[in-house]
Amino acid sequence: MTPPALRGIDPATMPPAEVYALLTGCVVPRPIAFVSSLSTSGVANLAPFSFFNAGGAHPPSVVFMPVTSGAGRDKDTLHNVRETGEYVVHIVPWSLREPMNLASAEYAPDVDEFERAGLTKAPSTRVKPWRVAECPIALECRLFRIVDHGEGPYHANYVIGEVVYFHVAESLLNEKGRVNAASIDAIARLGGPHYTRVTPDSVFTLARPAPPSA
Ligand SMILES: Cc1cc2nc3c(=O)[nH]c(=O)nc-3n(C[C@H](O)[C@H](O)[C@H](O)COP(=O)(O)O)c2cc1C
Repeated sequence: MTPPALRGIDPATMPPAEVYALLTGCVVPRPIAFVSSLSTSGVANLAPFSFFNAGGAHPPSVVFMPVTSGAGRDKDTLHNVRETGEYVVHIVPWSLREPMNLASAEYAPDVDEFERAGLTKAPSTRVKPWRVAECPIALECRLFRIVDHGEGPYHANYVIGEVVYFHVAESLLNEKGRVNAASIDAIARLGGPHYTRVTPDSVFTLARPAPPSA
């Protein structure tokens, strides 16, 4: 295979908004954490974050990153999680792409974003923030640590949480209790307004290589 011709780019020479576009165009596809949190006065918040992934399993942990806005404002989700230490991360199927997108609008902190997105509140089991009843996967989380990286507009806040309770749709579980991930119909983010969708025909299988012989 002929190696592609590469352009070297030094992010230190670019404005943060351009670096953001470069980074989100390169690191793809990104799964989406649809995060429910509560303000200290009890207002329900919902927002999607595609800077998101899972960490370890003992205990299970996930991380998502609210980026400080171009105007230098911290996201309401970050305030809520910092103050209450609890939240619920949902996985977004294709059928919920529009409500997820509606919840990404920058509403004032006193707006109930479940109502704005037209989604149903269900009680969580171990934490106070509501669960989105329509989502097939919900991970109840307690905050472990927030790590700030950088300062000012576009800096990252790594929100690391322990998953203290899982909710998984019965229809996604096989007889061994394992999740059939190809059936979630999950969406993931590319750059800008572009997304992708995990459908059964987009899935392929690779067996892990045998351990090298000594
Ligand atoms: C699919 C998608 C993914 C997003 N990912 C992020 C992200 O990783 N980090 C971030 O700071 N904002 C992200 N946003 C923007 C936030 O959802 C948006 O700023 C939202 O208003 C934050 O809500 P809040 O202030 O109620 O927390 C994303 C938006 C969409 C539609």
